[in-house]
Amino acid sequence: MLVTRYLAKDLFNGKTVFVTGGGSGINLGVAKNFAALGANVAICGRTREKLNAAAAELSALGAKVCAVAADVREFGALEKAFARSAAELGPMDVLVCGAAGNFLVPAETLSPNGFKSVIDIDLLGSFNASRASFEQLRATKGTIIYISAGMAYMPHAFQVHVGAAKAGIDMMMKNLAIEWGRHGVRTNSIVPGPIEGTEGMKRLSGEAQLAKLINGIPLKRMGTVDDIGQAAVFLASPLAAYISGCVMVVDGGQNLAGSALFNMGAEQMLRAQVG
Ligand code: COA
Repeated sequence: MLVTRYLAKDLFNGKTVFVTGGGSGINLGVAKNFAALGANVAICGRTREKLNAAAAELSALGAKVCAVAADVREFGALEKAFARSAAELGPMDVLVCGAAGNFLVPAETLSPNGFKSVIDIDLLGSFNASRASFEQLRATKGTIIYISAGMAYMPHAFQVHVGAAKAGIDMMMKNLAIEWGRHGVRTNSIVPGPIEGTEGMKRLSGEAQLAKLINGIPLKRMGTVDDIGQAAVFLASPLAAYISGCVMVVDGGQNLAGSALFNMGAEQMLRAQVG
């Protein structure tokens, strides 16, 4: 892990980091980066088996771990999960709101309940976690990091529910930055670009599709879960003490390459002309 090559391994010693949806994917990657830097790590999710496997990985990195089965849609379940992690690991210093649900579906066939499910998990779930953690974060002058998505500012076909949810999360983050800043609580979002090995990327079939995707990223590579973990570590660290209300895009520049010219390969064409 790069994070332990460049940062002191005790950076988060004695600190408690809670990651919702921390049982797998990007969120587990985030949890692991904090664990590698000495944090106590709590995770919650709906699937006990996933949580157990994730807890074993986090313990192997030397972290004290608390893994609680809880659905972020249920405020009471989160209150209990946060009380348990505080009892076992100490009050929360960092909350990462990562729990999310997603599926591709054309808007005209998406049922209202399908739309509501994603809003409930992503947006309401992030509010629930923020609200239920507030007293702990106020006491520690802690910080919240939301895992947002590019759909929050750039529409994607078949993602009307996710775009609405993630845009809501980013605005909620900004609202909380101005309301809770006076308590020393900072809030920020991370927008991950295409991250290799994740559920979403597995759905992209075929090398040709992948090559096209990578060609559309200025840094010419997919992101890794560690790229997101490192961004989260930075935002939670004292280095980011004056950063609040910020959306940090971690996508190799992909969002800047959305112009039709770039996507059509015109950049290479023009480069060839100008030498
Ligand atoms: N296409 C269209 N609609 C879908 C769907 C799909 N692929 N998957 C679920 N839905 C709809 C269901 O039909 C249902 O609506 P209905 O009652 O009108 O039929 C509604 O969504 C709720 O479905 P349900 O399976 O009860 O939801 P859930 O709360 O158990 O699961 C999901 C939540 C739907 C988001 C599910 O995809 C999930 O849990 N995913 C795992 C996490 C994940 O997606 N991770 C990736 C994060 S980027």
